[in-house]
Amino acid sequence: MSSLAGKVCVVSGASSGIGNAIAKSFAKSGAAVVGLARRFETKSVELAAGKIQKISCDVTSRDQVDAVFAQLEKVDVVVNNAGGAVFSTFEAMELGDLRQMMDCHLWGTVHVSQAALPKLRAAGGGLVIGIGSMAVESSFPTSSGYTAAKAAQMAVMRIMRTELRNENIRVTELLPGATDTAIWDGKDGFDRNKMIRVERIADLALHAALNDGVMLDRLCATPIGGAL
Ligand SMILES: NC(=O)c1ccc[n+]([C@@H]2O[C@H](COP(=O)([O-])OP(=O)(O)OC[C@H]3O[C@@H](n4cnc5c(N)ncnc54)[C@H](OP(=O)(O)O)[C@@H]3O)[C@@H](O)[C@H]2O)c1
Repeated sequence: MSSLAGKVCVVSGASSGIGNAIAKSFAKSGAAVVGLARRFETKSVELAAGKIQKISCDVTSRDQVDAVFAQLEKVDVVVNNAGGAVFSTFEAMELGDLRQMMDCHLWGTVHVSQAALPKLRAAGGGLVIGIGSMAVESSFPTSSGYTAAKAAQMAVMRIMRTELRNENIRVTELLPGATDTAIWDGKDGFDRNKMIRVERIADLALHAALNDGVMLDRLCATPIGGAL
């Protein structure tokens, strides 16, 4: 496939950072993009090729997610990207922070993916991308909650792939290392100039979306200088 013209792509967490870059990249490739985020205001979807429809949606709410997908006749690509990170030692971890991360990374992915699957199937197949994290491959201190939430999200993605591949539904885990986004605001001790640019992660998501003849199980990206 040489472009996303004619495709409908849903991207969660499209109001900033990696999700925003993916939404822009998909729209530039011709897709009608539905971007989800809490800070967006509109509830009604009007698809337009090459444009991002910014829809208010909290992915931790099954009802809100279902209300968005009920407005979509078809979906070709869905990107589970929404989420944030709270870092603290395991001992000091606030249970509310852990629940919030599980709600967003795991349950958000469950809500969006379950709502999308009947539409992907109806379209004859499609792609589910999960934006994971290289944290699941490492043991970074102060990241037990975040790593647990990302590992749970990735486990769901991995099993979905085995269940759905015979229906031409591809499932790709995209694992960025440190990428310069608002997720690092207020977190000291990290050189943001050495981090990956969001556009490079968007390039990988577009690569997965265009390569419809192959299952890209897992794409990993790390900063040139190594883990930060
Ligand atoms: N930056 C990195 O180094 C890095 C590395 C590996 C993986 N990641 C992953 O990349 C993804 C995007 O993060 P980012 O770095 O781009 O951070 P970001 O700039 O803070 O973006 C997070 C996005 O998620 C949205 N969001 C958060 N909670 C949501 C909810 N409940 N419902 C809907 N949208 C929600 C935010 O929008 P609203 O606030 O408007 O809802 C925002 O658009 C996350 O899953 C993160 O774990 C990031």
